[in-house]
Amino acid sequence: MKVLCLSGSARAASFNTALLEVAAAELAARDIDVMRIAPSDLRALPLMDQDLESASGLPEQARALKASFHAADGIVWACPEYNGSVTPLLKNVIDWVSRPDDALPAPACFQRRPMALLAASPGGLGGLRGLRHVREILGNLSAMVVPRQFALAKAGDAFDAQGALRDSKNQEAVAGVMDDLLFWMQAIHGKG
Ligand SMILES: Cc1cc2nc3c(=O)[nH]c(=O)nc-3n(C[C@H](O)[C@H](O)[C@H](O)COP(=O)(O)O)c2cc1C
Repeated sequence: MKVLCLSGSARAASFNTALLEVAAAELAARDIDVMRIAPSDLRALPLMDQDLESASGLPEQARALKASFHAADGIVWACPEYNGSVTPLLKNVIDWVSRPDDALPAPACFQRRPMALLAASPGGLGGLRGLRHVREILGNLSAMVVPRQFALAKAGDAFDAQGALRDSKNQEAVAGVMDDLLFWMQAIHGKG
């Protein structure tokens, strides 16, 4: 079983990427093969541009992302909140991966694929408002977005120097979301 872990922030000190690493460790502890996308690859993805697409097809970075989506039995998204919504970086990933090309029909990357949502923010709501939008966008693409999610509030104080969550309740919340993701992966793919 493979899970792709994707952060909506390429920032070096990203709280969302830190939370994603906590989730990745929970998955690895359950014998799941974790795949990651390097921040440099996210940054290298051109801004969605239909002229570029018409002229030369999907850029190499978008093809690689699509292949990673397709190879994954499930996906974990860590979603920063910008002005109550999704980050441009995260939306750009969704937009490119949603495009068809010769190698992979677009819906295959999302349709029936179990996906779990996390968020982290220095604010008091943890990015919860942005998750409503991510859920709706992925739902429109026919992904199976698991009902349980977790938004980590006050993220600036939440991690210790090793990147572990200080509060065991937060750790349990991440673990619970991963358990539900695996439940849906098993239900849909019949393995795990
Ligand atoms: C343009 C912009 C808008 C933001 N809007 C929100 C917001 O609506 N809610 C929130 O909780 N934090 C907001 N923030 C703060 C982010 O949560 C914070 O920068 C966070 O660290 C970004 O995630 P990262 O650490 O994973 O990069 C905003 C930040 C930026 C740059």
